[in-house]
Amino acid sequence: MDLDSARHLLHPKLTVLATCVDGEGNPNIITLAWAMPTSIDPSLVAISVGETRYSHDLIHSVGEFVVNIPSSDLLDEVKLCGSRTGLTADKFEETDLTPVDSEEVAVPLIEECPAHIECELVDEFRTGDHTIFVGEIVHGSVEEGIFDESSGTFDMDKFEPVCHVGGSEFVTSGRKI
Ligand SMILES: Cc1cc2nc3c(=O)[nH]c(=O)nc-3n(C[C@H](O)[C@H](O)[C@H](O)COP(=O)(O)O)c2cc1C
Repeated sequence: MDLDSARHLLHPKLTVLATCVDGEGNPNIITLAWAMPTSIDPSLVAISVGETRYSHDLIHSVGEFVVNIPSSDLLDEVKLCGSRTGLTADKFEETDLTPVDSEEVAVPLIEECPAHIECELVDEFRTGDHTIFVGEIVHGSVEEGIFDESSGTFDMDKFEPVCHVGGSEFVTSGRKI
């Protein structure tokens, strides 16, 4: 097997829209398939961001980001935020997504996404041509009725995630197993 395609065997992956800001508070959105929880106590999440991405330097220098979890109705926005760069485009304007003040960080969250994880950057690791940014969760929010906090699970009859298979292929939730 071609070694270059082997990492794609880890897909499909839940795909998120991470928000970040520049030094003047102008917000940007980046689509990420490489995002995961990485510690229970403290509660940490990690995102892997390519060094060439505009968002890379924003997250590194400002030290905060929000992981917004879109549902399948936002697929077009996921694609746009994953193909345009915030260096030359205002992705909030282009997508018509709405930036809303977060509770604990200066980075806005995306109103149309049903769930949000606000993070403060606590560590970062260079991994080849990407950087893993580790964020401590300082606030979380989720649309009422779609997530059971006692079991920590989405109601999959009520939430359709965007999962990236590879290339331009995506899937959403299927049957329960
Ligand atoms: C489905 C999908 C998943 C992606 N996942 C990642 C990822 O995990 N890490 C990354 O650095 N770029 C990823 N990208 C590419 C970036 O989203 C893309 O390069 C984006 O235009 C960068 O925006 P920026 O320059 O405004 O930061 C993904 C793109 C798509 C469409």
